[in-house]
Amino acid sequence: MEAFIRGLPKVELHLHIEGTLEPEMMFELAARNGIELPFADVEAVRAAYEFTDLQSFLDIYYQGAAVLQTEQDFYDLMWAYLERMAGENLRHAEIFFDPQTHTERGIPFEVFMGGFARARADAEERFGISTMLIMCFLRHLSGDDAVATMREAMPFAGQITAVGLDSGERGNPPERFAEAYAMASAAGLRAVAHAGEEGPPAYITGALDVLGAERIDHGVACEQDDALVARLADEGIPLTMCPLSNVKLRVFGRLEEHNLKRLMDRGVKVTVNSDDPAYFGGYLSENYAALQRALGLTRDDLVALARNGIEATFLDGGAKQRLLGELDDYSAA
Ligand code: HPA
Ligand code: ZN
Repeated sequence: MEAFIRGLPKVELHLHIEGTLEPEMMFELAARNGIELPFADVEAVRAAYEFTDLQSFLDIYYQGAAVLQTEQDFYDLMWAYLERMAGENLRHAEIFFDPQTHTERGIPFEVFMGGFARARADAEERFGISTMLIMCFLRHLSGDDAVATMREAMPFAGQITAVGLDSGERGNPPERFAEAYAMASAAGLRAVAHAGEEGPPAYITGALDVLGAERIDHGVACEQDDALVARLADEGIPLTMCPLSNVKLRVFGRLEEHNLKRLMDRGVKVTVNSDDPAYFGGYLSENYAALQRALGLTRDDLVALARNGIEATFLDGGAKQRLLGELDDYSAA
């Protein structure tokens, strides 16, 4: 089953590039940039990854991102992720980045966008992996900050496919970001948003109705509202779920309690993703494999999940059909 999962042609729709920073690279970049880390070694970093909720993770995650300074650092980060994923038959990824985490530290857009662009082009050429970028606004900051970030991003809009919303969810409802999302839409960008990870179902509805989100990132809280589940199923709104993340951040006590399969059985277009794999103990294949074991998923379930992912991408019809064809060939063989 694990070999079947590794070879399955997969897409990833919920992956924070800053969340792929492995402790080894954290130390390498800290040394390269003359930054002092508050950890003795790589083992001490891993030992600190005991989270009690989303915020306890974010505190460490933003601290880790501070080692990213130069264009080459952002290249190395993106390249390491894509090179690793070539070994898991990743075919396409729509990748989140958090510009405010970097601009707040005085790192301008040119630096991270340049590094990302170079690594993405190299991965497309070497591995045939296509990628898109989704720029996230940090929801613990203000709506005005998001608008300012959107303005700064305009010269790079051609490299960005969509906008998203992440960071601490509780007490930070989506409505505050309506103006930034309207600007993104006017610039031709698509929209997604984290909602219903730790927050209530109303944040999912707000993301759909006020921000125009076309996919919901996480969305596990929809299960508290039957009418919302029915709406997600009827309208074919995908949920980008991240099972290992949800256990690490204690959204579910155990993977066996995860609602992905229950929602799938109710007709919701659920997808499997890794969120922040360097922090949560597994990349995309491990998320599929852990879920398969915990929920007793069949091969047909796994293929259906991979299919949902492809259908939920922002790829055009032709590119989707090619990936669906690859998936059909793989599952028939
Ligand atoms: N939720 C909110 N913000 C985040 C996450 C997440 O899962 N990962 C990185 N930033
Ligand atoms: Zn996320």
